[in-house]
Amino acid sequence: MLDSVRSRMTVWYSALFGLFLILLAGLTYFLYWRNSLERTDSNLSEQSETFIATFNAELKDDKGPDGIKNAAREAMLEHRFRDVVYVIVDGGGKILLSSLDLPAVRGGAEKFAPDMFDSAAFQRLAQSPLKTAGGVYQDVPGGRNGFRGYARPLSQDDRATRLIVLQSLHPQHEMMEDIRNIFFWIIPIALLLASAGGYFLARKSLAPVADMARQARGMGAARFSDRLKVSNPRDELGTLALSFNELLDRLEKSFEQQRRFVADASHELRTPVAILQGETEVTLSRPARSAEEYRETLSILRDESQRLAHIIEDLFTLTRADAGQYPLQIRELYLDELTADVLRRTRSLAISKGISLSSTIQPELPVQADEDLLRRMLLNLLDNAIKYTPAGGKVLVECCREANDYVLRVIDTGAGIPAELQSRIFERFFRADKARSRSEGDTGGAGLGLSIARWIAEAHHGRLELTRSDASGSTFTAYLPAPAGSPSGH
Ligand SMILES: Nc1ncnc2c1ncn2[C@@H]1O[C@H](COP(=O)(O)OP(=O)(O)OP(=O)(O)O)[C@@H](O)[C@H]1O
Ligand SMILES: [Mg+2]
Repeated sequence: MLDSVRSRMTVWYSALFGLFLILLAGLTYFLYWRNSLERTDSNLSEQSETFIATFNAELKDDKGPDGIKNAAREAMLEHRFRDVVYVIVDGGGKILLSSLDLPAVRGGAEKFAPDMFDSAAFQRLAQSPLKTAGGVYQDVPGGRNGFRGYARPLSQDDRATRLIVLQSLHPQHEMMEDIRNIFFWIIPIALLLASAGGYFLARKSLAPVADMARQARGMGAARFSDRLKVSNPRDELGTLALSFNELLDRLEKSFEQQRRFVADASHELRTPVAILQGETEVTLSRPARSAEEYRETLSILRDESQRLAHIIEDLFTLTRADAGQYPLQIRELYLDELTADVLRRTRSLAISKGISLSSTIQPELPVQADEDLLRRMLLNLLDNAIKYTPAGGKVLVECCREANDYVLRVIDTGAGIPAELQSRIFERFFRADKARSRSEGDTGGAGLGLSIARWIAEAHHGRLELTRSDASGSTFTAYLPAPAGSPSGH
């Protein structure tokens, strides 16, 4: 039952509310009890006040040896309707007169137990030292619920003889019992109502969540086009539904990317494999061929398998980069040296295509980087520049520091990239002119080179941009953060 948030909320709510009710009831009860005791005390002192006034008046009239006793009796008779017991005790604690002794006064006094006067508490009232002006209060056991007693000197001249006024605590106890009974009924009923209300509220406010869960369950695993209904985008649940929908958007996009990646990859792999198959079949279809023909076939097979290996290598790099699993081997190196080295290796390729390759390289450019990856980035850019520049063209590489960046520029005099395609050349498998790339019989050409180059720049906290491309050629620029404090400029 407690498996649902609804029930848990209700239980928590009811438990807290119950605790609150009990504390409130306890506090009320305590305050009520204390207040009624205070009222009893002030009542007792008032009773003693009026009793003594009557007593003094009577005493004036009777100056005989039994004057005190007589005056006390008269006063007791006069005050007999007050629901209290008056007792006069002498200095030794002995009872001189008690209103219980007077039949006319005893009236409803059966609640006063006679043995009450023997109790130690009563003796304390009768004998404990009095404060100079006032009297003492004391609880006295006996009867049904005990008594509250108050003792004070009968007169200021004779401080040994005392008046003790006792009042039964039974009415207070009865009242407290009534209050207890009320709480006994009210707390469970309030708790029951509150739990029902709480359950209803929780159910009502969680209904949209249950609804969302139902909708989410109905969504197909392969289909991300469904979205949750958002009833109120401003409340918490609306925000949850919106976030969920946004997550679905992202998932849909990344699924779509993944799907396209796999489709493109298999498409790209299919072509060289088809060529491999075709070539071998054609060559084997006749029993004998000249050594020249075999040589030609083998060189095609070599080119295609090289291309295949190249594509597979690129795909592997990209999938690892996507998964964030490409370990960068960062170490200190010199960008100028690395650039010069890559240029040396590409020189023969440029020469074979009739392209002049030149460079301006600023010396002493230390950098923390992954050497293989940087080499690969520059190689991809240079490979493109050479590949897409017709014979007789020029390729220039610049490597220098500008402000806080190292800048690597690869400038060519090729035909450039059509303006409408420029934004797409960094996409995976994108080639501005697929037909042309193929017909020229190049060995690369899956359209992954620039995506990888851009990823490498970003993995080094830099960026790669196409900074110019028109009919006179293109410029690709890579910016890499340079270490702070090194000399800048030429
Ligand atoms: N310097 C350039 N001049 C003209 N077009 C370019 C240049 N560099 C890239 N491109 C265009 O951008 C496309 C994408 O380049 P990218 O390097 O990603 O792929 P690719 O060179 O075709 O194949 P790969 O690099 O995977 O072997 C190229 O097909 C080409 O059309
Ligand atoms: Mg390329």
